[in-house]
Amino acid sequence: MKLHNKVAFVTGAGQGMGLAIVRRFVAEGASVVATDINLQALREGLAEFGDQVLAVACNVADSASVADAMAQLEARFGRLDILVNNAGIGGLDSFLDTPVESWQRVIGVNLTGTFLCARDGARLMVKGGQGGSIINLSSTSALTGEGPNHYCASKAGVMGLTRGIARELAASGIRVNTLVPGPTNTPMMAGIPDQMMADLLKGVPLGRLCETDEIARVAVFLASEDASFITGQNIAVNGGMAFI
Ligand SMILES: NC(=O)c1ccc[n+]([C@@H]2O[C@H](COP(=O)([O-])OP(=O)(O)OC[C@H]3O[C@@H](n4cnc5c(N)ncnc54)[C@H](O)[C@@H]3O)[C@@H](O)[C@H]2O)c1
Repeated sequence: MKLHNKVAFVTGAGQGMGLAIVRRFVAEGASVVATDINLQALREGLAEFGDQVLAVACNVADSASVADAMAQLEARFGRLDILVNNAGIGGLDSFLDTPVESWQRVIGVNLTGTFLCARDGARLMVKGGQGGSIINLSSTSALTGEGPNHYCASKAGVMGLTRGIARELAASGIRVNTLVPGPTNTPMMAGIPDQMMADLLKGVPLGRLCETDEIARVAVFLASEDASFITGQNIAVNGGMAFI
């Protein structure tokens, strides 16, 4: 088991990639604090797991909520080894019609949320002194520009944040990487109109959506000792849609 005795914190874990990552982490022996803004959906999603998973409500865009969730993790497990900043939201705004509230909401969850969890999580890792691994979810949209303006900007911001903090946290033995999925079969994609989906798939050489477990297996790799000399990198899982 690659994550035996490790403690992980996963955001947006109620469904989609987050839930798949929790499932893989548990299978690899980790104890997991699974968090989501929607506690009811989170509890339903986690019904298959036993005591190895603690469900905690956490709105990543709210600094007090992040601090409270990290405090619950510390009280229960006393340490943090792996943080996955998976929570994210999209939108369908065209640029010229984007209200500033939409911009702030998407940036607030995808970029500020990643900053808040990474900062508080890294503080716990530094306090524990054992190092750790932080995995930030970006998107192929940040590379290709195929996606709404705020989403592309937030996900490009995640890549820059990763690189900056990877350098700063390396001295503490903390690795920070960006996992960059292409179009993946999750509830987030259910809202995409059929024509847009068909156009999207034309751009994927492997010709299909990614499955959530294909993301989760790469998350296990980045979290584990197998990735012990990898930090600050973009790791793409996109069926050949874009090259990093
Ligand atoms: N699905 C794709 O095709 C795709 C492609 C590239 C990148 N991504 C990124 O991967 C990540 C996971 O995507 P997904 O498709 O599994 O998403 P999803 O919409 O299926 O699930 C996201 C989860 O995040 C939670 N969430 C939303 N706002 C939150 C907040 N403020 N605080 C905490 N939790 C919150 C939701 O309740 C939900 O459970 C996201 O960051 C997304 O942008 C997705």
